[in-house]
Amino acid sequence: MSSLKTILSGMRPTGKLHLGHLVGALENWVTLQGQYKNYHLIADYHALTTNLDSSGLYQNSVDMTIDWLAAGIDPEKSPIFRQSQIKEHTELHLIFSMLITAARLERNPAVKDQVRDLNIESVTYGHLGYPVLQAADILLYRGELVPVGEDQVPHVEISREIARRFNSQYGEVFPEPEPKLTKFARLPGLDARRMSKSLGNTILLSDPPDEIQRKMRTAITDPQKIRKNDPGRPQVCLVFTYHQKFNAAEEQSIEADCRSGVLGCVECKRRVAEKISATLTPFREKRAYYESRPGEIRDLLASGERRARERARQTMADVRTVMKLG
Ligand code: TRP
Repeated sequence: MSSLKTILSGMRPTGKLHLGHLVGALENWVTLQGQYKNYHLIADYHALTTNLDSSGLYQNSVDMTIDWLAAGIDPEKSPIFRQSQIKEHTELHLIFSMLITAARLERNPAVKDQVRDLNIESVTYGHLGYPVLQAADILLYRGELVPVGEDQVPHVEISREIARRFNSQYGEVFPEPEPKLTKFARLPGLDARRMSKSLGNTILLSDPPDEIQRKMRTAITDPQKIRKNDPGRPQVCLVFTYHQKFNAAEEQSIEADCRSGVLGCVECKRRVAEKISATLTPFREKRAYYESRPGEIRDLLASGERRARERARQTMADVRTVMKLG
């Protein structure tokens, strides 16, 4: 049983999940379930790096858990747990913070992107240390693979550097984790920037069909295709990317009809919105089931947290041994 490789992945609980989460990471988690030992972390401490108001964290964590379950995560096989409930994260984070320079963290493009998108004026110590906490998240469970979206690759690289540094300084405890990307590791948002709640360009997994149609109508397309029968360039059109992902069977005819000008953007968008809605139908049904059972979610988190804590304690015991602490 323990011969399975370990996957550790997580998300910040910032509210209901969108298609970018599903396509970039969550689908991958579900596919890999069973082939690996999966741990799924709710990064509630990380959420504080961009929003100090902690009052909504529990509800957001519950909403995210429901989205995960609706997408097919089986909490029996794959423990789901909140970072804030496992004290070992903060301990390992502190030790790791000595193993990486401030200059290295200042160069991290993922934090730079966040600072730009959210207009953050000056970065806190904790925000700069975001990838150090993430390294603790991954390595506490000795995660070997980290299925995430493309935007997370710089963070995982820092985890690798910290693991190497720790192992050479104190002794081999940690694997060097690797990111595991999907084909659509970056699904663009409706304005063609990266899909993100803070940019207001998302389609939520919980959006009903009419809302998906409405949002899709706002999507930008090839700027050179102005009138319905102008020939379009699918390769620069984000709506075409959505067809490739959600309507693969018609990809070729859509591409040809866009190029020839037979297919207008309005109809093209309507068709892809329909496919997205169909993909999300079973999801909405499962979501409704769990939404009416908050007690079940609470119990399942408590059980995931017990199992995660056990593994985290073992790792910390090994860390203390090689460091000769205690
Ligand atoms: N940084 C990730 C995100 O923004 C969340 C995260 C926290 C994470 N800890 C992690 C992802 C560990 C993978 C592994 O979505």
